[in-house]
Order: sequence, then C-alpha cells, then structure tokens
Amino acid sequence: MGFLSSKRGKIPLVSVVTLFFLIIGSTPLAASSLEIIRPAVKSIVDESEISVVVKITDPSVTKIGFTDGEGVEVFRDLKAGKRIYCQSLKAKMGENRISVTPYANNEKGESKSASVFYRAEVFAGFQEAPSGYKKVSFHMDKEEQLCKTCHKMIQSAAQHVVPDNPEDSTCFQCHKNLVNRAKAHAPSVNWLCTECHTGQEGEYGNEETGQSKYAAPNPIMERCFSCHENIKAIWFARKSEHGPVRDGRCNRCHNPHSSNEIFFTRKPIWDLCTTCHSEKASGVHVISSFVRASSHPTRGKPDPARPGRELVCSGCHDPHGSEGIYLLRTKGKTAFSVCNRCHQK
Ligand code: HEC
Ligand code: HEC
Ligand code: HEC
Ligand code: HEC
Ligand code: HEC
Ligand code: HEC
Ligand code: HEC
Ligand code: HEC
Repeated sequence: MGFLSSKRGKIPLVSVVTLFFLIIGSTPLAASSLEIIRPAVKSIVDESEISVVVKITDPSVTKIGFTDGEGVEVFRDLKAGKRIYCQSLKAKMGENRISVTPYANNEKGESKSASVFYRAEVFAGFQEAPSGYKKVSFHMDKEEQLCKTCHKMIQSAAQHVVPDNPEDSTCFQCHKNLVNRAKAHAPSVNWLCTECHTGQEGEYGNEETGQSKYAAPNPIMERCFSCHENIKAIWFARKSEHGPVRDGRCNRCHNPHSSNEIFFTRKPIWDLCTTCHSEKASGVHVISSFVRASSHPTRGKPDPARPGRELVCSGCHDPHGSEGIYLLRTKGKTAFSVCNRCHQK
C-alpha cells in the first residue's frame, strides 16, 4: 500500500493509466440518458397525484429511481427493449420537485426533474401557485397519442355503466389512487367518472389552456344536483345563503373523489369552517351573548340532535343554505328556535 503516496515522490505510470480507466469507467450516466414526457413542466394539479412517464434513451441504464416531492425514491428495474416507464407519485400540497435518476449497475447517474404545484383551496398558503406555473390539459388527442399504444383510452357509452371490475374502467390504470382514501364517493369508486367529467368547461373554466375531453364543468353544482336533490331543494328554498356555495363550486369544501373525512370534506368539518371563520376558532361565538356561560361549545361534546356525531359548526348551521337566518338549521327570523334541536324546554 502507499502506492500513490506522495512521499515516494513518483507514481508508476501503470497506476496512472489504471486510475484513468477507473475514472472513465465510473463516469455517471448523463441526464440525457432519459427524457421526462410527463408531467408537463411547471404545471398545476388539483389532486394529490402526479403521473410520471419516462422514456429511456441510453441502453446502458439498468434501473431508474422516481423521487417524489417528499424525497422518497422508488426504484424500477428496466426490462430489455422496454423504453417507456410509468409511475404514479403522491403529491404534497404546494410545490413538488420530482426527479428521475438513471442507474447503470447501481452507479447513480444525473437526475432530471420537473416541478408540479398541487393547488388546495382551503389550505392556507396553497390556494394559488407562484407565477410561472400554469394549468395544462393532458386529455387531448395529441398528448394521448403515445399512451394509446399501450393503454386503453377510448371514451365509450360504457363509461356511464358501473364496470363489473374496476380494472375494466378506462380511467382505472392511471387514476386508481384518487379513490384510495378512507371514504370514497359512490360515483367515483364505481368509476362513473364521466358523470362529472363531461368535457364541458363551464362558466369559470376558461383559465384552462386547451380543452380537456374530461374537463369538469366549473362550477360543478349542476352535476351534483343531478343526484343530490335534497341539496338542490335547500338551494332553491334558501332565505340565507353562504358565500362559498353561492358560486356553485361544491368541490371547494368536498373532494368529489374520496377523502379521509366524513362527507368527503377536505378537512375535518370544524377545521374547515374555522379556515375562513378564524374568529370562531377561539371558542367564543356570537351566541355567547345569549348564553350565561362564557361561551357555547362548538365541538368536543356529543351532538344531542345527531346520535353518534360530535357537535360541530354544522350541527347548528347548514353550510348549503337555510330557510332561517344565518344558515341556521331552523326556519324563521329568530335564532332561538334552533336551540330546541338540542335543548328540551
Ligand atoms: C410501452 C407501453 C406504455 C406506454 C407507451 C405508456 N404506458 Fe403507462 N403504463 C404501462 C404499463 C404496462 C403500466 C402498468 C404498470 C407498469 O407495469 O408500469 C402503465 C401504468 C401507467 C400509470 C400508472 C402508474 C402507477 O404507478 O400506478 C400511469 C399514470 C400511466 N401508465 C400513464 C401513461 C401515460 C400518460 C402515457 C402516455 C404519455 C403512458 N402511460 C404510456 C405501459 C405504457
Ligand atoms: C394513460 C393514462 C391515463 C388514462 C387511461 C386516463 N388518464 Fe386522466 N390523466 C392522465 C394524466 C397523465 C393526466 C395529467 C395530470 C397528471 O399528471 O396526473 C391526466 C389528467 C386528467 C384530468 C385533468 C384534466 C386534463 O385533461 O389534464 C382529468 C379530469 C382526467 N385525467 C380524467 C380522466 C378520466 C375521466 C379518464 C377515463 C375516462 C382518464 N382520465 C383516463 C392519464 C390518464
Ligand atoms: C362528482 C363529480 C366527480 C366525479 C364522479 C369525478 N370527478 Fe374528478 N373532479 C371533479 C371536479 C369538480 C374536479 C376539480 C376540477 C378542477 O378544479 O380542476 C375534479 C378533478 C379531477 C382531477 C384533477 C384535475 C386536475 O386538473 O388536476 C382528475 C385527474 C380527476 N378529477 C379524475 C377523475 C376520475 C378518474 C374519476 C373517476 C374515478 C373522477 N374524476 C370522478 C368532479 C368529479
Ligand atoms: C351520479 C350521481 C352522483 C353525483 C353526480 C354526485 N353524487 Fe354525491 N353521492 C352519490 C351517491 C350514490 C352517494 C352515496 C349515497 C348517499 O349517501 O347519498 C353520494 C354521497 C355523497 C356525499 C356523502 C353523503 C352522506 O350522507 O354521507 C356527499 C357529501 C356528496 N355525495 C357530495 C357530492 C358532491 C359535492 C357532488 C358534486 C361534485 C356529488 N356528490 C355528485 C351520487 C352522486
Ligand atoms: C362551505 C363548505 C361546503 C360547500 C361549499 C358545500 N358543502 Fe356540502 N357539506 C359541507 C359539510 C360541512 C357537510 C356536512 C354537514 C353535516 O355536518 O351534516 C356537507 C354535507 C353535504 C352532503 C351530505 C349531507 C346532506 O345534507 O345530504 C351533500 C350531499 C353535500 N354536502 C353536497 C354539496 C353540494 C351539492 C354542494 C354544492 C352546491 C356542496 N355540498 C357545497 C360543506 C360544504
Ligand atoms: C372558503 C371560505 C369559507 C368556508 C370554508 C366557510 N365559510 Fe362560512 N362564510 C364565508 C364567507 C365569505 C361568508 C360571508 C357572507 C357570505 O357571503 O355568505 C360566510 C358566511 C357564513 C355565515 C353567515 C351567513 C349569514 O347569513 O350571514 C355562517 C353562519 C357561516 N358562514 C357558517 C359556516 C360554516 C358552518 C362553515 C363550515 C361548514 C363555513 N361557514 C365554512 C366563507 C366560508
Ligand atoms: C350551538 C349552535 C351553534 C354552533 C355549534 C355554531 N354556531 Fe354559529 N351561530 C349560531 C347562532 C344561534 C347564530 C346567530 C347569532 C345571532 O343571532 O347573532 C350564529 C351565527 C354565526 C355566524 C354569523 C354571525 C357572526 O357571528 O359572524 C357565523 C359566521 C357563524 N355562526 C359561524 C360558526 C362557526 C364557524 C361555527 C363552528 C366553529 C359555529 N358557527 C358554530 C349557532 C351556532
Ligand atoms: C346542535 C346541538 C345544540 C344546539 C342547536 C344548541 N346547543 Fe346549547 N349545548 C349543546 C351542547 C352539546 C352543550 C354542552 C353540554 C355539556 O356540557 O354536556 C350545550 C350547552 C349549552 C349551555 C350551557 C349549559 C348546559 O346545559 O351545559 C347553554 C346555556 C346552552 N347550551 C344554550 C343554548 C342556546 C341558547 C342555544 C340556541 C341559540 C343552543 N344552546 C343551541 C348543544 C346545542
């Protein structure tokens, strides 16, 4: 040992040559050994999913690693002759810098990356993407061309019929994660996606670039009303109404696909309401002036009117509208009539 030690003064030529070849041999794969086809550069998504599609251009790549926005890497061994690889990654809210790294026999190469912004309206800080990001439509003939060679992508009348097998749905293979949360909305988990994704943009949909064949009308309310007649009835009989419902964007509070919360709300109900009504989070509510105690509880107790449920804001208020004042679950012009729901006289 000590072969290369400077103390010796000179290094045998043969070692220099060996070293030279060692360095050349371990030159990492260049970033040009792969190409990211999806996601589109600096695009905005409205769901927690990023579909990554990669094309391998250097045959010496033996493995690739997909890294999501949290830095978690999943590996795929490449198959001889197969050049396209697809991987669905989970998006965190806000900016996600995802990357794909080529490996040649476990030697790490140079990564390529793309940034995607997961927009989430009722979460502070994530309502709007920073400048430079834009909404991009994927489902257009031109973009689908490559995918069609391997994926079934036809639209058919059968999309309005619940498939015997979820795998039979055109949408399943690429979007199965959307219905994975604890509670799934019936039309989504039954793959009736096109009940809402009609391809019509609606009044506020014009920000989208291009026109996706699966755009959902924005506002979506009419689609929801087609199945939820009770909410439609509240809407038409309302005497007091709610700002965030008025424009018909039911998806502001509900995730139309699935959620970990009851009623597919995007957050637990109390947290959802206090996102916009932060002054009510202190526990002090306007009704405290009627109540002798310092304030009326708005959570943390069972709701006497709804067995099995905890008291929350929507125990007294109907977020969709009311025939009474202040969205109260009562009729008429006095607030006190709502008290009877829970307190017997
Ligand atoms: C060479 C064939 C091929 C092409 C071309 C192809 N895919 Fe795939 N894709 C597959 C296969 C096979 C799977 C199933 C999972 C696997 O084995 O990779 C898949 C799975 C997927 C998934 C789900 C991945 C996951 O982690 O669940 C998505 C999303 C996807 N493809 C999107 C696309 C898109 C978008 C295109 C077009 C830009 C495309 N694919 C083109 C073969 C292909
Ligand atoms: C081959 C994979 C694939 C299939 C099959 C597929 N999608 Fe997609 N879809 C994507 C990709 C990729 C995006 C771009 C956003 C992303 O990265 O997830 C997307 C985006 C969308 C969007 C957002 C609007 C747009 O066009 O970008 C909607 C809505 C959508 N898909 C609905 C559907 C529905 C409904 C079906 C079944 C009828 C379906 N998709 C089938 C891959 C697929
Ligand atoms: C009850 C109506 C409804 C159903 C059913 C539904 N969606 Fe959606 N979906 C929406 C709405 C509303 C949005 C939000 C649109 C927006 O703001 O971009 C959305 C958003 C999406 C997005 C994200 C769009 C983006 O731009 O990032 C994808 C992907 C998607 N839906 C696919 C599906 C698939 C696949 C199914 C079937 C499993 C499905 N949806 C079922 C209403 C629905
Ligand atoms: C194709 C019919 C259909 C459409 C369209 C539809 N839903 Fe539903 N929805 C259902 C069914 C079926 C159920 C489950 C049965 C039930 O509890 O009413 C359900 C359940 C729900 C629930 C939970 C109800 C409960 O009592 O647990 C909510 C919340 C909901 N939908 C909201 C929406 C919203 C918001 C939209 C529009 C973005 C929408 N739905 C569009 C069929 C639909
Ligand atoms: C401000 C947030 C918010 C908006 C916007 C909103 N909802 Fe809801 N929705 C809720 C909450 C919270 C609940 C649960 C109420 C409870 O505690 O019973 C709910 C419950 C529901 C239910 C099931 C309970 C029931 O009364 O049948 C349906 C269906 C529903 N919403 C549909 C819609 C539709 C359709 C729209 C658009 C017109 C909409 N929601 C807009 C917050 C909202
Ligand atoms: C996205 C923001 C947002 C969310 C989430 C939200 N609200 Fe509101 N709310 C508003 C705005 C804005 C107003 C202002 C008055 C208006 O335009 O209706 C309002 C008004 C109200 C009012 C007074 C209505 C009147 O007649 O004066 C009540 C009560 C109310 N909200 C209850 C709730 C409850 C309960 C929830 C949770 C289910 C909730 N809000 C969630 C934005 C929100
Ligand atoms: C026990 C029933 C009850 C609960 C629970 C409740 N409220 Fe109220 N809320 C009322 C009553 C009653 C009024 C009308 C008070 C009045 O006449 O001034 C009201 C009024 C309001 C108003 C309109 C007047 C104002 O103070 O701005 C808002 C907004 C509101 N509530 C939001 C909420 C939110 C958010 C929650 C959950 C954190 C909540 N409420 C929980 C009964 C309740
Ligand atoms: C959705 C159900 C609900 C409604 C509606 C409601 N309350 Fe309550 N109220 C409760 C619960 C739960 C408690 C807590 C009881 C406990 O501590 O165990 C409570 C406690 C109280 C207390 C404290 C004394 C006690 O019984 O512990 C008063 C006073 C009170 N409410 C008055 C009112 C008034 C006035 C109204 C109408 C403006 C009203 N409540 C509407 C559920 C409700």
